[in-house]
Amino acid sequence: MSQDDGATRMVSLPTGERVLPPVPGSGTGLLGQPAPPAEHPPVQGLAVVVGSRPVSAYTELTLEAPDIAEAARPGQFVAFAVGGPTSAMLLRRSIAIAGVGGGRFSVVVSAKAAGSTWLAGLRPGDEVDVVGPLGRPFPLPPPGTPALLVGGGYGAAALVGLGGLLRSRGHEVAAVVGAGDEDRLCSVEDLSAVAAPFVVTTDDGSAGRAGRVTGPVAELVSGAGVVYACGPMPMLAAVAQLATDRGVPSWVAVEESMACGVGVCMTCVLPVVGADGRSRFARSCTDGPVFAGDRVRFADVGTLPPDLLGADAMTLAHTPAGEGETP
Ligand SMILES: Cc1cc2nc3c(=O)[nH]c(=O)nc-3n(C[C@H](O)[C@H](O)[C@H](O)COP(=O)(O)OP(=O)(O)OC[C@H]3O[C@@H](n4cnc5c(N)ncnc54)[C@H](O)[C@@H]3O)c2cc1C
Ligand code: FES
Repeated sequence: MSQDDGATRMVSLPTGERVLPPVPGSGTGLLGQPAPPAEHPPVQGLAVVVGSRPVSAYTELTLEAPDIAEAARPGQFVAFAVGGPTSAMLLRRSIAIAGVGGGRFSVVVSAKAAGSTWLAGLRPGDEVDVVGPLGRPFPLPPPGTPALLVGGGYGAAALVGLGGLLRSRGHEVAAVVGAGDEDRLCSVEDLSAVAAPFVVTTDDGSAGRAGRVTGPVAELVSGAGVVYACGPMPMLAAVAQLATDRGVPSWVAVEESMACGVGVCMTCVLPVVGADGRSRFARSCTDGPVFAGDRVRFADVGTLPPDLLGADAMTLAHTPAGEGETP
């Protein structure tokens, strides 16, 4: 099958997201509030691949799926069944939505192991079973708030739609995009079109400034009223800390391993401070993947902290949180 070279470039995003009021989190002393749930429930169906093109070390897929594309908001993701109808790969692969438009959505896939390699090998005309949009979108800041976007590796793709949406609403947008090396940079063109200043970093100095994103973030964060970040967990922890230290609220889109993707299995939990100031295990698939950066207990991710033992640590539905539910 021939490749459609990404004829549909997807950076437009629907409007209508709820804007959070400029109120710090519910008397907890934290800067961020829990992210509100998405407006639209996810749907499952077959999506047709209409475009596949290499983007640096990654593959950008464009898929026809009007129900998902119309409901999707920046920060949300989809979950693909992988390997075909007779596949032994039971778990879906979660992939961030990079853009939507015209009944289509796009994703950027990094071929790592079996599932993502199968996804990256899809060609125009192929059909794939997909559920989405999943998770909570990035809350938008009050009008006039300058935003700093920070993307690491393919995580930058999840910020493209957000950057365009913020600009369309009149926000100043700055961005820092980083990766290990030039080949693993992502969405540089799309984000540089909506952000100024726009800074690229690579760990090995093969493109942009040598070093991590945290260098330019430390320089730019004081001029921001809100920070949005998507990328590897250590990067999210560092960026959230920089923002919190300067009194700037941040939103991070985490990438925890997911099994069910719909809130049932508790595979994806991580310790998060709830709206009432108490920590609980939050499901990154349904309570996230977007969390307020200063609410995620990054140092305790992957551990069982003593204060989170027992059933109460999982009683999300009974949390007297803002927006009526969950951390
Ligand atoms: C919200 C979110 C957004 C993401 N966005 C992107 C993206 O934009 N681009 C991208 O390339 N990747 C993305 N990923 C990662 C992606 O879902 C895959 O995990 C990754 O590509 C590796 O998949 P694989 O099939 O190559 O690896 P494999 O090793 O074949 O499979 C990994 C699978 O096993 C699951 N898994 C791993 N450990 C556990 C565990 N302890 N318990 C249960 N299940 C486990 C993973 O969730 C995944 O489904 C995202 C993940 C999340 C959660
Ligand atoms: S992946 Fe199953 S609860 Fe989140």
